[in-house]
Amino acid sequence: MKNEIEEQYKYIEKVRENNENKNLKYNIFTMGCQLNENDSEKICGMLEKMGYSSTENLNEADLVIFNTCCVRENAEDKLFGKVGEIKKQKEERGTIIAIGGCMMQEKHIVEKLHKSYPYVDIIFGTHTLHKLPEDIYKIQEESKKIDDVIDIDGEVYEGLPIKRNDNIKASVTIMYGCNNFCSYCIVPYVRGRERSRKPEDILNEVKDLASKGYKEITLLGQNVNSYDGGEGYKFSNLLYDVNKIQGIERIRFVSPHPKDFTDDVIEAIADCDKICKIIHLPLQSGSSKMLKVMNRKYTKEQYLELARKMQERIPNVVFSTDIIVGFAGETEEDFEDTLDVVRKIKFEQVYMFIYSRRVGTPGDKMENQVPEEIKHKRFDRLKELVESQIVENNQKYIGTIQRVLVEGTSKNNPNMLTGRTESNKVVIFEGTKDLIDKIIDLKIVSEHMWYLKGKIEM
Ligand code: 5AD
Ligand code: SF4
Repeated sequence: MKNEIEEQYKYIEKVRENNENKNLKYNIFTMGCQLNENDSEKICGMLEKMGYSSTENLNEADLVIFNTCCVRENAEDKLFGKVGEIKKQKEERGTIIAIGGCMMQEKHIVEKLHKSYPYVDIIFGTHTLHKLPEDIYKIQEESKKIDDVIDIDGEVYEGLPIKRNDNIKASVTIMYGCNNFCSYCIVPYVRGRERSRKPEDILNEVKDLASKGYKEITLLGQNVNSYDGGEGYKFSNLLYDVNKIQGIERIRFVSPHPKDFTDDVIEAIADCDKICKIIHLPLQSGSSKMLKVMNRKYTKEQYLELARKMQERIPNVVFSTDIIVGFAGETEEDFEDTLDVVRKIKFEQVYMFIYSRRVGTPGDKMENQVPEEIKHKRFDRLKELVESQIVENNQKYIGTIQRVLVEGTSKNNPNMLTGRTESNKVVIFEGTKDLIDKIIDLKIVSEHMWYLKGKIEM
């Protein structure tokens, strides 16, 4: 494995020689989840070592990379639209087009690309991301189209270069793949089986980030609480060890699975002062019947009980969640159960999705699909409830003192600073730039749906 990466470093060097003094630029378009964002940071790391520099302007790019997602259908339309748009540019200036990520693990998508978009140069999958230097070199030397998608479960590769998007907060992938096969979800088919990074590799990466001044770490995986570091080293052990690393002030993790939320993880969250007391706990549906159909392996009651147990053990804990509306067979009564859980838990944040049929998953083959119109109506009802709860919840912040990690100047008003509370709420406030990357106390003075306004307490 190490040899494989060493091999790629040789290609990086060869491409860098080819690119010398050419001032070549790349543009990257990333879809989907934080894991994909983290993969893109690795892609950018490799590209910059190869002598490409980043541009936001697609028209001046010599290399365009798409890092795709296939969790929901709308991403496909978006990808094909964008690939169509750059055809002319490809003809005019020979831009290299590379498409990678989850969607490329789906055969019907790759076939469509071959048929309708034959000018795409490189197609790479989730298990071959590290071979991008070799693929680019071959395109430069032989200009033959490259398909580099493999179906086996990939290895865990260490030592790829990385170019991070931020210098205060960083993501660290701790495990790849998923073994759960929720019946609506394509991820296990495109990301393969679960495999965990070694504890020392993760801890060294976090220590390195701390030494570079990073304050917040998000541990990433499709199912972080089934992390298996070997020799009995579990996710809770990792939490304790990351918590000890000096310089890191906040720890988050996504996504855990409710079925794997063992007591040792709850204890670790309670014990570790740096772990943010907002837990992402994907619900998907509030109906026990639907949860069974979805193959989630918990009931409504077990979910509520888990949340209660955490509230008891972890003072002031709050939750965020993912919910799918309109999965096959969902009745009005099932949907009411989802609304019921939302009313009971009062999530800080709810990521809401309309069920999207994915080719190759059990859900797609189920006969009792919910009509689109009903899905949309239910989605709107859920959204209304969630938004009313956000307003209500925001009111609770007014007058309180919040610890806020200051992230930078506000995009909409450069005279203001922006940061986040431990519960991940955006707070905008007046302050001097020396506060950036510090954790400070702010008094919350007003709420504005998607952000709070704060004031420095004198
Ligand atoms: N349709 C809609 N939403 C989905 N998700 C996963 N698969 C689908 C699908 N086929 C949602 C789940 C998951 C989140 C990342 O995406 O809620 O937690
Ligand atoms: Fe998909 Fe379920 Fe695995 Fe999450 S746990 S990635 S929803 S199969």
